[in-house]
Amino acid sequence: MCGIVGYVGPRQAYPVIIKGLQRLEYRGYDSAGIAIINGKINLYKKQGKVADLEEFVIGKNVQGHTAIGHTRWATHGEPSDRNAHPHLSRSGEIAMIHNGIIENYISLKEELTNKGYTFKSDTDTEVLLNFIEDIYINNGGNLEEAVRIALKRVVGAYCILLIEQKNPETIIAARKGSPLVIGIGKNEHFLASDASPIIEYTKEVVYVNDYEIAIVRPDELTLKNLGNEKQTPFITELDLELDAIEKSGYDHFMLKEIFEQPKTIFDCLRGRLNAEKGYINLSGVEKYLDEISNAPRIIIIACGTSWHAGLVAEYIIEETCRIPVEVEYASEFRYRNPIVNKGDMMIAISQSGETADTIVAIEKAKEQGAIIMGIVNVVGSSIARISHTGVYTHAGPEIGVASTKAFTGQLAALMMIAFKIAFYKQTISEERYLHLCNELSLVPEKAEIILQQNDSIRLIAEALKDSSNALFLGRGYNFPIALEGALKLKEISYIHAEGYPAAEMKHGPIALVDENLPVVFIATKDVYHEKIISNIQEIKARKGKVIAVINENDTVTPKLADHVIVIPEADEIIAPILNVIPLQLLSYHIGIARGCNVDMPRNLAKSVTVE
Ligand code: AGP
Ligand code: GLU
Repeated sequence: MCGIVGYVGPRQAYPVIIKGLQRLEYRGYDSAGIAIINGKINLYKKQGKVADLEEFVIGKNVQGHTAIGHTRWATHGEPSDRNAHPHLSRSGEIAMIHNGIIENYISLKEELTNKGYTFKSDTDTEVLLNFIEDIYINNGGNLEEAVRIALKRVVGAYCILLIEQKNPETIIAARKGSPLVIGIGKNEHFLASDASPIIEYTKEVVYVNDYEIAIVRPDELTLKNLGNEKQTPFITELDLELDAIEKSGYDHFMLKEIFEQPKTIFDCLRGRLNAEKGYINLSGVEKYLDEISNAPRIIIIACGTSWHAGLVAEYIIEETCRIPVEVEYASEFRYRNPIVNKGDMMIAISQSGETADTIVAIEKAKEQGAIIMGIVNVVGSSIARISHTGVYTHAGPEIGVASTKAFTGQLAALMMIAFKIAFYKQTISEERYLHLCNELSLVPEKAEIILQQNDSIRLIAEALKDSSNALFLGRGYNFPIALEGALKLKEISYIHAEGYPAAEMKHGPIALVDENLPVVFIATKDVYHEKIISNIQEIKARKGKVIAVINENDTVTPKLADHVIVIPEADEIIAPILNVIPLQLLSYHIGIARGCNVDMPRNLAKSVTVE
């Protein structure tokens, strides 16, 4: 999610806010805005970059000492001027910015609509703001109290900053699930999503905790909990340099995004998968449940890593939903004369939602009557807009060119879609459905355990860094993960790597095997495990170096492999989302060991918007 900045104190607030928003732009954004109090609230917001906002306010009144600013990563309502933050309450006397997702905004919106409220935007944020104002009006205009009461009804994640016309020297802030840092200055305070907008003014900061409300004035910071009890602000000294902070202390965005995966997978599942109650809530699927369930065929199109996600989905959908699936490279599909029948379902997978080949392939299929479901990370992106329906992956901005957290977000979304359809079609038993839902819900914590292997994976990378070639082998659901592991290594370290179905080795590629060739096996427990063991032995017999991703209770593979990476077990359908994480770390550390620019690898772009 994106960026929040606030200032209250003797300075002109505008320069502090704008520079702060520029510092946050590494987090990615689709629109930006600012609200400044100068007698009244002056609010300016614009779709586009911070620079577009700066241009927009030229000649406008940006005077004032209290202000809030926001760079948006849209989750509800496509990027546009009206959906940009800050939002203004119905009375026009309160402005608010928000970082996060209000999951129960629909029920809150219904309540407010029944009271006659109307809304200028499609965002969940504006609903929360008017929910707060509705309480504010009915409690004698005490904003702090209104925020406290409102937040007790809110489900979801938020970091919110509010300013009100009648209290020009106060910012009210609150957080749950989205970060908030407050910088302590001399008779001034700085608020932001992370320390990067603050560090040039002060190194004394307070990290606000979940369920805390901050009442911030130039000379006073008060923290309270939702029970209106004062909390003692814990002031810490920033010891990071600015550059490091933008990466939250990680050396590279790629590593940061690999380590974000427990949270981003959780964010993808949140509010959608309820394993205990056995429901999967996906409005984008519900709308077309009959069409998808009765589709004669599902065509999956994508490019690169997203294509690998599609391949995993093919195995899962055919296994659980019993619907024929074909996975196509968008760049091939668009130039062929493909047969697409009316009623065919097309699933288009794209992190950026802007990949030119995928867009054209969608248009081609639409012309022939296919229903398009977009699995996209960037809300309001082209593919999101041209699809009939879709599911967002909610992985947040992915800055590293090599896709990591977006890929596992795609898998989480595709698994939920498959299980939902399979249960609706009754092509899996309720018991298996509930088991798969539970297994999927356990992925974030298992991912956390895998990330603890980082140091041991770095040591394995040291042993492989001078290789000229590599093979990645897997079977079944793990064959696409072998392809993904090979792509990660290729694009990050420039080592030639190929992914193969393990059984295919004997049909030619095994000729490549000698003592210089590292072969990475995904050898986690599944129906193919015994066969994989045989494949490992075939490689060892030819002196190949074997690296194997295995589960905790595997006692056979460690005796055969040169290196093992031990990860938690999961149902074979769920395992791909976990099995890819060690391969992401392996490629990252090999790239670093080879001195490569892992965040911006040579020749690559984050989004291929050209054909
Ligand atoms: C993956 O690491 C690459 N960055 C690339 O293959 C990428 O997956 C591909 O270009 C598709 O991009 P998209 O998901 O944004 O459509
Ligand atoms: N959910 C809010 C919106 O879509 C905030 C998104 C963000 O964190 O930038 O506008």
